[in-house]
Amino acid sequence: ANLTVLNGPNLNLLGVREPGLYGSKTLQSIQQAMEQLAEALGHQLNFLQSNAEHEIIEHIHQAYRQGVDFIIINPAAFTHTSVAIRDALLATKIAFIEVHLSNVHAREPFRKHSYFSDIAVGVICGLGANGYELALQAAHQILLERTQ
Ligand code: DQA
Repeated sequence: ANLTVLNGPNLNLLGVREPGLYGSKTLQSIQQAMEQLAEALGHQLNFLQSNAEHEIIEHIHQAYRQGVDFIIINPAAFTHTSVAIRDALLATKIAFIEVHLSNVHAREPFRKHSYFSDIAVGVICGLGANGYELALQAAHQILLERTQ
């Protein structure tokens, strides 16, 4: 299947950005691990990061045009602000898992609300970079069940 992994603002700074919260792995190393796992599971994976809301929306529209089967998204700060990205996911009806490296429920109150969680297949948070791989494994299972 075809999967897209979308990463929101400031995630390009992973590794140097508040490592106590987000871990020491770079986004590039997360990407490499995801690409390896996707290949092992027999999937095509497109891994993207953007600091711009409109680019993330365009990536979702592009995923729709390309017939992408599943999205894994860490919307980063847009989690708590973006009706527009939510609407893009609703419009395209692409199933998705929401991932956060940190436990957003153990932080500032404004991080508790997500514009995505109620329309996501599932949410993973607080498990660091491992959460991305867990999401990919879950997506793999969901896609298998779909074709049965
Ligand atoms: C984050 C959590 C968000 O609250 C924050 O704005 C981020 C990263 C996470 O992965 O833990 O940028 O999505």
